Amino acid sequence: MTKFKEFDEVAGPINKDFRTHLCGELRADQAGQKVRLSGWVHHRRDMGGVIFLVLRDRWGIVQVTCDESISPDAYKVASEVKNEYVVFVRGTVAVRPAGLENPDMETGQIEVKAKELRVLTEAEPSPLVIEQEGGEEPSFRWKYRYLELRRPLVQKRFIMRDRILKFIRDFHHERGFVEIETPILGKSTPEGSRDYLVPSRIEQGKFYALPQSPQMFKQLCMIAGFDKYFQLPKCFRDEDLRANRAPEFTQLDVEMSFIDEEDIYSHTEEMLVGLIGAVTDLSVTAPFPRMTYWEAMEKYGTDKPDLRFDLPIIDISAAFEKTEFKIFRGVLDSGGTIRAIHLAGAQPSRKEIDGFQKEAAKGGAKGLAWIAYEEDDKLRSAMGKHLDEGEALKVKEICNAADGDIVLIVAGEKKVVIESLGYVRSELARFFNLIEPGVFRLCWVTDFPMFEYSEHEGKIVSQHHPFTQPNPEQWKAWVDAGKPMEGDLLYGMLSRSYDIVLNGDEIGGGSIRIHDQAQQKEIFRILGHSEEEAKQLFGFFLEALKYGTPPHGGIAPGIDRIVMHLLGAESIAECMAFPKTLKASDIMTEAPTMVSEEQLKDLGLKLR
Ligand code: AMO
Repeated sequence: MTKFKEFDEVAGPINKDFRTHLCGELRADQAGQKVRLSGWVHHRRDMGGVIFLVLRDRWGIVQVTCDESISPDAYKVASEVKNEYVVFVRGTVAVRPAGLENPDMETGQIEVKAKELRVLTEAEPSPLVIEQEGGEEPSFRWKYRYLELRRPLVQKRFIMRDRILKFIRDFHHERGFVEIETPILGKSTPEGSRDYLVPSRIEQGKFYALPQSPQMFKQLCMIAGFDKYFQLPKCFRDEDLRANRAPEFTQLDVEMSFIDEEDIYSHTEEMLVGLIGAVTDLSVTAPFPRMTYWEAMEKYGTDKPDLRFDLPIIDISAAFEKTEFKIFRGVLDSGGTIRAIHLAGAQPSRKEIDGFQKEAAKGGAKGLAWIAYEEDDKLRSAMGKHLDEGEALKVKEICNAADGDIVLIVAGEKKVVIESLGYVRSELARFFNLIEPGVFRLCWVTDFPMFEYSEHEGKIVSQHHPFTQPNPEQWKAWVDAGKPMEGDLLYGMLSRSYDIVLNGDEIGGGSIRIHDQAQQKEIFRILGHSEEEAKQLFGFFLEALKYGTPPHGGIAPGIDRIVMHLLGAESIAECMAFPKTLKASDIMTEAPTMVSEEQLKDLGLKLR
């Protein structure tokens, strides 16, 4: 797990009536000083005649000793306080007697001998034990999130998040970027996910949409001549939620003019190298490896490869060129492929293989074949008597496998085969503990397809977004061929887009944009928008493109995902101060809630 660098914490304004020092800052060289402290009772221990309180604030904890023989009033108060009471202490710093130091506490060499102890606010027993770290169900912790946030390690996470945001802001300001805020109440446009809508009271029947990202606004900032823009906007998407996907999240939104892909890569790399070096004890070096979308898909079966382990997908079709095994013959004759993952030095049981088969099924594979190479050229295989020994040896040769290894095989249509093996690859790494611990492996995945056919929507859609520039040569070839609306010239067209991937998670994506109005109009036409519809949805943007648009491009790393990885947290929700559940609800405030009939009436709305 990542270890965090300690930061010098600035105390900020201090009111001397409440405190002269912070709980975490007292050390032996302050012995003899008279101090005032304020904070929460973290822990209380009654030794009869002496009561030890551990006092806590944001900066740490310190032991306060209330001795009946020295200060009977303070002792009396101490005998009544409970955990989480907010108290004021006046006393003197003293070095603890030899043998009573606490090496686990930063202030463990000293104690504060109380002269006065005053209760500022009493507290009911906390539903969460603040001293303990986690363990409860998120739904319980998040109902009392403000108490969970008192836990020193949880609080530290948000202090780290603040440092990360500060690093990013400083990094951009030092490089000539201007932070520009863009609207939250926007226009609903088809951008990929479902919009969160806000009804208008003034224009009843009309709706704003919360931004899925400030994509068009940041491009308008380029048209406006800001040249280098950034922002840390909240984005909203009504989509299926997961550990790395929340309904509202924060992006680092970046856009630059007069640049190409290389400028985005080097800018992002410099930022991530600096950030990781500044806040963690790990380091990464640039340039990060790059691969095209198709290279990633062919080798790893995913567009977000985890490079903490290898296990590449290998094409073994050649081994079965003359096969008589019916299934493989059928696949090859119908233009399909046979590919495999070679796992060295392990021979999973049939039951374990069943588990891997379930993973393969996620990619659409109908089955998972396998060949295990045992000692003395003996074979074991799911294919049983259908397995030709010569073919098995050819597979062994192609994969460079040895006795004691296993090869897991999927046959079928290429997309299904590689995606299925992509799932198997990840599961094998997890199951056999092949993931290199304590490292950040970053890479760029570039040149995504411009379009894809969405089965779900029954039409062609942009793979990134409709403002992404197509590969110029392929675009020209498509235009020269008379703009066919089907076939490889359209569906095989690549785009000038890129994702940045960290340990198998997409932490950012972006592209070089279209800056030519005619090309932008043509893209909307390909996506099925009539001229009228494009004008209605994107008219303001198409018009803006007419008035002198600089070539430009950008990227949007997801802040919550970056924080999650840098902190070694399990989900992005744990890195959000007041998170929502996977059902997009807020357990603490109970949002979303019903609204009054009056409010609906104001908006001209009636529930169905
Ligand atoms: P994209 O949609 O790829 O691109 O999003 C960019 C990055 O935002 C993060 N992200 C999310 N994080 C948490 N929860 C979510 N629901 C979620 N959705 C996305 C990811 C992702 O890589 N406007 C373009 C960027 C551009 O072209 O410049 C955009 O939003 O880390």
